[in-house]
Amino acid sequence: MGRKAFVGGNWKMNTQRESATALATAVAKATEKASRDVEVVVFPPFPYLLPVGDAIGPRVRLGAQDAYTEASGAFTGEVSVAMLADCGATHALTGHSERRHVLGESDTLVGAKTRAVLDGGLTCVVCVGETLEQREAGETDTVNERQTRAALEGVSAEGMARVVIAYEPVWAIGTGRTASPADAQQAHAALRALLAKLYDDKVAAATRIIYGGSVKGANAAELFGQPDIDGGLIGGASLDAEEFGAIVTAAAKKVH
Ligand code: 13P
Repeated sequence: MGRKAFVGGNWKMNTQRESATALATAVAKATEKASRDVEVVVFPPFPYLLPVGDAIGPRVRLGAQDAYTEASGAFTGEVSVAMLADCGATHALTGHSERRHVLGESDTLVGAKTRAVLDGGLTCVVCVGETLEQREAGETDTVNERQTRAALEGVSAEGMARVVIAYEPVWAIGTGRTASPADAQQAHAALRALLAKLYDDKVAAATRIIYGGSVKGANAAELFGQPDIDGGLIGGASLDAEEFGAIVTAAAKKVH
């Protein structure tokens, strides 16, 4: 099928200018020998996009953790896709669970942001995932479907070439509690089946679906070994260049 593995480092609201630059330099070094078959992207906080972009070298790409829907205007505190591109970002996250559940972003807003990111020419990593309560109620696939449908509303089959879906169960984020490879695989397979329904088999087979939630060097290979898990979105472990490098190496071993 030839899906290129994808590993993203979501630094969240961590680092400062000096430590961000140092981490970027260390990530460049830790990943330089990894196969080019893995796409590696770091997502630093907005203020450090420029220095991090200067420090990551040619192998690692630059991403933003969020983006606003509008191109410019009276939107105090927001950052447009054009501004992100101007700072060298080639990727942006939308719908991260912290934005949904801490900042209160709706499915509709996530959809509008996703369209804005794609219209602005960037690759969009669309995050979806259920809470613990929803999982325990057996609603995992329903929640993933609802969030994915809303996020991809108005996105064409051609547009899907620049979409990566990140399945991040909320209960696994920052908790040290990883989804079992089998549970994650099940959710990924359901998401891929949904893409086949929303688009067609070709789009479903070509779209990267990555897993996020307490991924570490020690559990990455087993997760990435699942047929529908095409890499990971890494939080805590992405702040340690060596650990992040080990995760990228695990992704490089993935054969589709
Ligand atoms: P952790 O890897 O810290 O669990 O975070 C996952 C995540 O939210 C990545 O976007």
